[in-house]
Amino acid sequence: MERRTIGAATLEVGAIGLGCMPMSWGYSRSQQRGDRSLRAVHAALDAGSTLLDTADMYGPFTNELLVGRALKERRADAFVATKCGLLVGGDAHVVADGRPGYVKRACDASLRRLQTDVIDLYQLHRADPDVPVEETWGAMAELVTAGKVRALGVCATGAPTARRPGAPHEVTIRQLERVQQVFPVSAVQAELSVWAPEALDALLPWCAARGVGFLAAMPLGSGFLTGTLTPGQGFEPDDVRARHPRFTAEMMAANQPVVAGLRRVAARHGDGVTPAQVALAWLLGRGPHVVPVPGTKREEWARENAAAAGLALTARDEAEIERLPGARGSWD
Ligand SMILES: NC(=O)c1ccc[n+]([C@@H]2O[C@H](COP(=O)([O-])OP(=O)(O)OC[C@H]3O[C@@H](n4cnc5c(N)ncnc54)[C@H](OP(=O)(O)O)[C@@H]3O)[C@@H](O)[C@H]2O)c1
Repeated sequence: MERRTIGAATLEVGAIGLGCMPMSWGYSRSQQRGDRSLRAVHAALDAGSTLLDTADMYGPFTNELLVGRALKERRADAFVATKCGLLVGGDAHVVADGRPGYVKRACDASLRRLQTDVIDLYQLHRADPDVPVEETWGAMAELVTAGKVRALGVCATGAPTARRPGAPHEVTIRQLERVQQVFPVSAVQAELSVWAPEALDALLPWCAARGVGFLAAMPLGSGFLTGTLTPGQGFEPDDVRARHPRFTAEMMAANQPVVAGLRRVAARHGDGVTPAQVALAWLLGRGPHVVPVPGTKREEWARENAAAAGLALTARDEAEIERLPGARGSWD
């Protein structure tokens, strides 16, 4: 698989990574596959998808434990990206904690769960509104100095919407400018996909101009862009898509032209090429600093997604994807 560099030239990863979240968090618990998810991690690593994206919050904690079991056997094959700063409370509410002492304890706990002595990329999941972000970031920088972490990243908060207006990602960019004064940012992680292109406006160029890597989260539109979901199929109550306006039967039907467009492009590339692969190949074309992290718990999809690194889209394909109608349904 093609290799890409993230931030400093020493951080090299396979062009397509693996998002480990669906193995333990976000989507329906009844669909989780327990230890069988490990096969997806191994399939991804075998295919050259070295970057494994996890977080202490996923599970919580069980996702890092799972990744740790895979790493125990083959740490050298993987680039481990995890996150701190978001916790799941007893009532399942998510809260930010950016206190320096907490961040240091969280890192030690992640290292234990991941069964490793160093995290390749430690990402701030969310800034804590009660703690100056420079203080949180300073503590994370000390973890680099201590040799527990190789590089630091920031997860962007959501793009602007009707309820949260503003220039695309302006809050995140202000935050990035502040933390850059303290310690270099090696990667930014934010949602980016064919149906959620907002990061293209300002965030992606901000990263490109500074040699900062960009991890494209939710690159398959939480599964929608793969064409394997059916309008009206319904989602279990613990699946984030059950509450998501884009996953109502009406909006899934309204957004079918996006999937149809990806299907048309895929068909031109021959049998076996899928809309998911086209969606990932399109992301790779957004810049040499972009690394999509498609999430899956299935080995066959991990393999399929990794193979998208070998799919070369033509100018005609790109133009057709650019012309697709904007997705309907607000993200919040
Ligand atoms: N920083 C943040 O705040 C943040 C937020 C969200 C996500 N993320 C990161 O981004 C990663 C990706 O996001 P995501 O997992 O939410 O969304 P995604 O990658 O857009 O889509 C994942 C969904 O697509 C399905 N899928 C994957 N490959 C497929 C294929 N080839 N064909 C058909 N279906 C396929 C998966 O099914 P199965 O689950 O059944 O395999 C899963 O339901 C996460 O794992 C996480 O690491 C970060």
